[in-house]
Amino acid sequence: MSNTKTLIVTLLITAGLVLNGCQSFHGEPDNNLYQQLGERSGIADVVEDLLYLIVADERINHQFKGMNVAQFHRNLTDQLCELSGGPCTYSGREMRELHADMGITTTQFNALAENLILAMEKHQISTAAQNRLIKRLLPTYPDIRHL
Ligand code: HEM
Repeated sequence: MSNTKTLIVTLLITAGLVLNGCQSFHGEPDNNLYQQLGERSGIADVVEDLLYLIVADERINHQFKGMNVAQFHRNLTDQLCELSGGPCTYSGREMRELHADMGITTTQFNALAENLILAMEKHQISTAAQNRLIKRLLPTYPDIRHL
């Protein structure tokens, strides 16, 4: 692994540990993230805004040309709903298989995460809830990023 890759992986792991640490420090239960995100309809609204941000983002929008928007919206909403502890089941294709041929860089992965944070911000989702969701998405990094 190159030094840059090692640094990025270390940063991601550290971010995960820090977020984890903050959570246990405050002693908050993690079972209400789904409610904090506004349940499935709140998550669907966030994903809708995420889609607008993706379309406007030159770092990543070319990757999404020609995709099925309705399917993407439904599947990503279900995935975030399930990940946040909600009563949904993600029924789309497996993450690694989906993103395999896209050549996604770390910068692009971070760009998508940044847009998701901006979309949550717009919907007045608390920073604590934003961080919890991002933390739960971090394990998808090795499956999404092009190796
Ligand atoms: C946290 C990071 C990410 C998550 C959780 C995620 C999640 C998903 C999910 C659930 C789908 C399935 C939607 C469907 O069935 O149509 C999907 C598809 C897709 N993702 Fe990602 N993704 C992430 C990062 C990225 C990045 C960084 C890119 C490109 C820059 C990307 C590009 C795509 C594209 C183009 C599709 C549509 C594939 C198709 O229709 O065949 N994703 N992603």
